Parts: sequence; structure tokens; C-alpha cells
Amino acid sequence: MRQVPDRPRSPVGIVGRGRLATHLAHYFTLLGIPIRCWSRRTDAGSPEETLAECPVVLLLISDSAIAPFVGLHPGLQSHTLVHASGSLVTPLAHAAHPLMSFGPALYDLETYRAIPFITDENGPPLGELLPGLPNPRFTIHASARPYYHALCVMAGAFSTMLWQKLFADFEHRLGLPPEAAHPYLRRLSAALLTEPRHALTGPVARGDAGAIQSNLAALEGDPFQAVYEAFVRVYDQRA
Ligand SMILES: NC(=O)c1ccc[n+]([C@@H]2O[C@H](COP(=O)([O-])OP(=O)(O)OC[C@H]3O[C@@H](n4cnc5c(N)ncnc54)[C@H](OP(=O)(O)O)[C@@H]3O)[C@@H](O)[C@H]2O)c1
Repeated sequence: MRQVPDRPRSPVGIVGRGRLATHLAHYFTLLGIPIRCWSRRTDAGSPEETLAECPVVLLLISDSAIAPFVGLHPGLQSHTLVHASGSLVTPLAHAAHPLMSFGPALYDLETYRAIPFITDENGPPLGELLPGLPNPRFTIHASARPYYHALCVMAGAFSTMLWQKLFADFEHRLGLPPEAAHPYLRRLSAALLTEPRHALTGPVARGDAGAIQSNLAALEGDPFQAVYEAFVRVYDQRA
């Protein structure tokens, strides 16, 4: 059975009102954990005042704003400061990266509970960084964080760009409903989850040079032609 941590009595502080801040605020609320929120857009007072009672303060703001924000609010350094960036390495705040994508729609409790947090090998336990969260935790060395994040971006964001292109071009160039590709996408996801080493199919995996040349010719003038060529090169190098 999953161990449920004690519910913290003190509120957890949240800085920011963007996508991750909105999701984590919702998650803490679903778990009945008290929170205090501060954002530059909605709060006239200082974060030091608003978050004074919070032993832990989550800095859920843009990566590039995290270090300057701590510099502008030195009073916050007496709190345990935590950021959620996948790539940032800074002595000013501990890292706890949620390995998940957060868009405009909120999730249900079980989805939130299943999100793994990636923290630093030598950092405090998850319970000190995200009090009351029962989530799985994995650790990596801080120096590996940028590479870890590059992998996440390639797999998550770049595959999303490819699917967005397919959906748009189905609809606008080919007159096909984007939903026609949903079973294909579901099958690929299922294969990646259950048999990842055998999930790759298609002309590149088969070494079908004729089909590859035909695909590249069809993409003439399209910026994705260079993406296709790069993938073929990477596949050939790995093979
Ligand atoms: N979204 C995801 O899928 C995801 C996944 C994992 C980790 N993360 C991490 O979560 C953190 C937040 O990302 P997000 O996606 O939630 O970003 P976001 O939706 O773009 O929101 C950014 C937030 O940062 C605030 N902000 C920006 N510059 C600031 C400054 N100088 N001072 C104070 N507040 C400032 C913005 O305030 P204004 O509204 O006033 O501009 C906004 O509240 C980042 O470290 C990101 O790497 C995000």
C-alpha cells in the first residue's frame, strides 16, 4: 500500500500563477494541504509578508526569473526554497522537477499522485521539499540535470511538434480528419510503454531507401525535410 505522508500543518508557499503553479495549487488543495500563494500580478504586498508562515516556498516561475527573484527577496532565504525547473542548477533553491506536462486543463487526484518528482541525489527528501505529497521520487546528480532535461524536451516537446504538424496538415492540406490518426497514436504510445525496443517501425527501421527518398522529395520546401534527414542520420549512426 502507498504510504501517505502526514498532512503538514503549516501552509506551503507558492510563488507564481502560471501553469505549474495553478496545477500544484490545485493538487495541494485536493490533498487538503494548506497553501499561501503570491504572484507579482495579483499581490500588492511583498512575498516575504504573504509567505511568512510558510517553512517551504515553491518558486514556480519562469526558469530565468528564479535566481533574480531570490536576489530581489533575500528575506525568503530563511525558508526552504524549491524550484521545479528541469535544467536549472543553482545554490539558491533545491530542485524538484515534476516529470509531466502541465497545460491549461487541471488533472484528477490520481493523475497528480502518479507524477514522479526528480530531485538531486544529495538533496533533502521529498517530504522536506514538497510537504505532504505522496508522489514517487527519483534522484539524479545535479550535474546530470541539463542532460536529463534535454531528453525530456526531445521526447515530449519535439514529438508533440511532429504530431501537431500531422494533425494540421491532415486537416488543411489533405482534407482528412485529424482524429483519423488517433488509433495510430494510441498504438504507438502503447507499444512504447510495453515494448519500447521494438516500437520503431516504418521505412527507416526497415532500411527502405526508396521510401525514404520518396518521403524526402515530398517534403521539398518544408522545414520538416531537415528534421526527417536529421532523424535518418541519427538512426544510421546508432545502427
Ligand atoms: N508547464 C510545464 O509543463 C512544466 C513542467 C515541469 C516543470 N515546469 C517548471 O515550472 C516553472 C514554471 O513554469 P510554467 O510552465 O508554470 O510557466 P508559465 O505558465 O509561463 O508561468 C510563469 C510564471 O512565472 C511568473 N514570472 C515570470 N517572471 C517573473 C519574475 N521576474 N518575477 C515574478 N514572477 C515571474 C509569471 O508571472 P506573470 O504571469 O506575472 O508574467 C507566471 O506566473 C518553470 O521552472 C518550469 O521549468 C513546468
